[in-house]
Amino acid sequence: MLNKRIGILGTGSSVPDKVLTNADLEKIVDTSDEWITTRTGIKERRIATENESASTFAHEASIKALRNSGINAEEIDLIICATVTPDMAFPATACILQDMLGLKHIPAFDLSAGCSGFGYAISVAEGLLQSGQYKKALVVGVDLLSKITDYTDRSTCVLFGDGAGAVILGEVEDGYGILASELGAEGSGAEFLQIPAGGSVKPATKDTVKNKEHFIKMAGSDVFKFAVRIMADCTQRLMDKVGLSPDEVHWVVPHQANVRIITAAASRLGIPEERFFINVDLYGNTSAASIGLALDELALSGKLKEGDHVVMVGFGAGLTWSGLLIKWGGGKNNVGE
Ligand code: ACO
Repeated sequence: MLNKRIGILGTGSSVPDKVLTNADLEKIVDTSDEWITTRTGIKERRIATENESASTFAHEASIKALRNSGINAEEIDLIICATVTPDMAFPATACILQDMLGLKHIPAFDLSAGCSGFGYAISVAEGLLQSGQYKKALVVGVDLLSKITDYTDRSTCVLFGDGAGAVILGEVEDGYGILASELGAEGSGAEFLQIPAGGSVKPATKDTVKNKEHFIKMAGSDVFKFAVRIMADCTQRLMDKVGLSPDEVHWVVPHQANVRIITAAASRLGIPEERFFINVDLYGNTSAASIGLALDELALSGKLKEGDHVVMVGFGAGLTWSGLLIKWGGGKNNVGE
């Protein structure tokens, strides 16, 4: 039995200014706007400059989430950053972010669960807030996949973009907030999505760099099949836990990887596609940032209403998945700017 309800008090997001369109990609690799649009739904994505890193966007998204929640940075007593593209292998980007926010002493750590990282981080934060040790958490999902993408590999480079999404979590009124959550992993699928070198299996050498082993390698169709299955199954289990029918789900905010994955999951679930928030056309797959970025846009659009049931569901490297079913509202200021 939960002692208190933990919910989202505010959202924020940040993306680079630089836009990379499908027409730009046509000049770099053998691809076409038509192929990318019909196979993925992506039209453009944002790409960080050389001087921008994960903390740049994590910071901006966090500032906006604080502002939208009406909470002072000093009230935050926990920071979790979900990322697979941290500023550097260590220290954690969450620690760098803590310092950028002018905070001291509070715990700050990174969490790696690929594109499922945002849901994982929210669930971990929820548990720590439930324990009563902490009162308000800043959770950020940030990834700059452009920094680990091979722009000679057309099967991956058209998919990815950069950005950050953030939420402030805290106690909300009874009946609101996180009603159900699910985390999962299928480690047997680790080979389908990985960066082979740079870890302890294959530390960086001249050869690993020459062989482009520091870039994302992906078995696209294996990931695709997993994604459709898990997005539908995880969402269904969340609905079952809370006792909701498809009609009672107001919004699904899915990981933004490919419109076809979202459409297939929608049809399996019997939830109309219009209730799936989609912005993959504008940003591509931003990994751990994608759900937070989409949730922030939905919140700012004014379409999200107090009391709406919102499912956030994602999948990613691991292979992992994460899902949350939230009753929106019950906080002071959680409906955006
Ligand atoms: N432009 C033109 N042709 C292309 C491109 C491209 N950018 N990329 C691949 N092709 C070609 C292939 O070479 C292949 O040609 P062939 O038939 O002559 O061999 C053909 O298009 C079809 O390729 P498929 O891989 O079968 O295309 P598919 O319809 O499966 O789409 C895609 C590929 C978009 C990658 C899809 O499999 C997908 O979205 N998978 C999931 C990816 C994903 O979500 N990854 C992120 C996980 S989250 C994370 O943690 C980062």
